[in-house]
Amino acid sequence: MTDCYQPVKITNSVYWVGAIDWDIRDFHGYSVNRGTTYNAYLVVSDKIVLIDTVKESFTEEMMSRISKVVEPRKIDYIVSNHSEMDHSGALPVVASHINPDRIFASKMGVKALKQHFPDQDIPVEEIQNNQTLDLGGKTLRFIETRMLHWPDSMFTWLPEEKVLFSQDAFGLHLATAERFADQVRPTVVYREMAKYYANILMPYSHLVSRLLDSVRKMDLKIDIIANDHGPVFRRDIANLLSWYQTWAEQAPTPRAVIIYDTMWGSTKTMANIIAEGIYAGGGEPAPMPLSGVHRSDVARELLQSGGLIVGSPTLNNNIFPTVADVMCYLKGLQRKNLVGAVFGSYGWSGEAVGHMKSMLEEMKVEIIGEQKIQYVPGADEQRTCYDLGFSIGNRLSQNRR
Ligand code: FEO
Repeated sequence: MTDCYQPVKITNSVYWVGAIDWDIRDFHGYSVNRGTTYNAYLVVSDKIVLIDTVKESFTEEMMSRISKVVEPRKIDYIVSNHSEMDHSGALPVVASHINPDRIFASKMGVKALKQHFPDQDIPVEEIQNNQTLDLGGKTLRFIETRMLHWPDSMFTWLPEEKVLFSQDAFGLHLATAERFADQVRPTVVYREMAKYYANILMPYSHLVSRLLDSVRKMDLKIDIIANDHGPVFRRDIANLLSWYQTWAEQAPTPRAVIIYDTMWGSTKTMANIIAEGIYAGGGEPAPMPLSGVHRSDVARELLQSGGLIVGSPTLNNNIFPTVADVMCYLKGLQRKNLVGAVFGSYGWSGEAVGHMKSMLEEMKVEIIGEQKIQYVPGADEQRTCYDLGFSIGNRLSQNRR
């Protein structure tokens, strides 16, 4: 086994023993252009607990870090906060190697782990919401967070050291040598957290709001948030909770995301002129040409917007493929409280605008304008695009606080 990987001490009894994935750039369709980490933690008390594991291909790295803290076979318990494979992939081999006394997961976690590893017969036990586990001098308390973001998801709370093991929640896809968020540039942390929220948690925003209420009522006084991706938070926890509160509310802003692609430049011209109009009308245009912008960056921008303006040429009686891809993705993310408009050029049939309008309606976006032009926009048509942008900007300016 490789011996080069070091653990990082988080508190007196908690160690980070996860893995850093510097290589990954695509995370099931989400562009992770700064890589990610798979965080796992050891809690060392009279009993020794491993909280979560890592993606299967990083098993050796995690075991190398663990072995610098304890002899792995001395681990008494494993807790699986989340059964998605980036946190459970190593579980079968690790469980078999260290042979812990007990393995715990939520009720749905037990079901999911058995279904993920049907041939492994992992002896996983159900733990109840709010149940505690005495480690001798330390305690773990389990808090179900169903559908944040999977049915099995749960938090584990270590009250004696005020550490919240939050699995995917409060995570960010960011590979760094530094293990604490306060060691990383704040703008990078904020941007990657917003992107993570938009792409992973946005559809469950109502549950995030409810969870934040529960956390407030429990009065946990959190000192450390030990998430499953990216650096650990040991400062400014109130800020973090406040960002989540804001994102969960999905309040509209003056910003308009303009997604578009183009064949011969006409739809691009329309997008540019609509952007001019939006700015003149008091909005904040954010054009995103889909020839070079990834769907997950569109999602991040949309999290903090009030308008979704979509442009596509008609290709074979349909929407341009890059635009259809992003619309399909955004539909699943369910951003609420948006106004929208559709536009595009066409040669002889022009169905794309109608298709996009139907998709926005399915997404419950309030349509406030549409514009399609044949071949190339002339001066009058450009003026119409500008006017469309102006009216969108005017409407979005009402979201200014
Ligand atoms: Fe990081 Fe839902 O897995």
